[in-house]
Amino acid sequence: MSQNTEQAAAPGGADAPAATAVGDPIEHLMAEHARQRVICDELERLIEPMQAAAVQPEAETLLAFLTHELALHIADEEKDLFPLLAARCLPEDNLKGLLKQLQREHEMDEDLVDFLRDDLAVLARGHTLANPTRLLINLREFVVTQRRHLGWEDETVLPLAERRLTPADREAMAGRMAARRRGA
Ligand SMILES: [Fe+2]
Ligand SMILES: [Fe+2]
Repeated sequence: MSQNTEQAAAPGGADAPAATAVGDPIEHLMAEHARQRVICDELERLIEPMQAAAVQPEAETLLAFLTHELALHIADEEKDLFPLLAARCLPEDNLKGLLKQLQREHEMDEDLVDFLRDDLAVLARGHTLANPTRLLINLREFVVTQRRHLGWEDETVLPLAERRLTPADREAMAGRMAARRRGA
């Protein structure tokens, strides 16, 4: 499994979106969501035997996904998508409460991801964990919370973005997302 996070195949074989080719930003986020769902499915399979050893071969790829891809994705939403939606949505869209909830979930994700990264880094170095159950429980929590979060974003947030964001919004957003992926 490749160590290059921009080229790495996800567990389960889904290819990572190209590092800087954003195209339409909403479609790009949808594609990343599809990849996140594949990773959740694969994680569910990996933790099923409740053995950290089953996770170990994928630890480096998972660590890269959490450190780079997911962090970029959350930054796209927090810094670009959500502020644009807050500006463009109409009162009858009833989006404010949901955006606040999703932002809270991003903050909780950060804490959970910190724990996951610590443990996955140990596994990726070829060591064993002092408390393997903590990793398995945290991975299960990650799968559950990500799937719920993805449901809201795919079924409510991105369809609204399709309707409310202007072509200029999308172009500006694509530029900022591409710059973020170049490390600019
Ligand atoms: Fe998302
Ligand atoms: Fe999100």
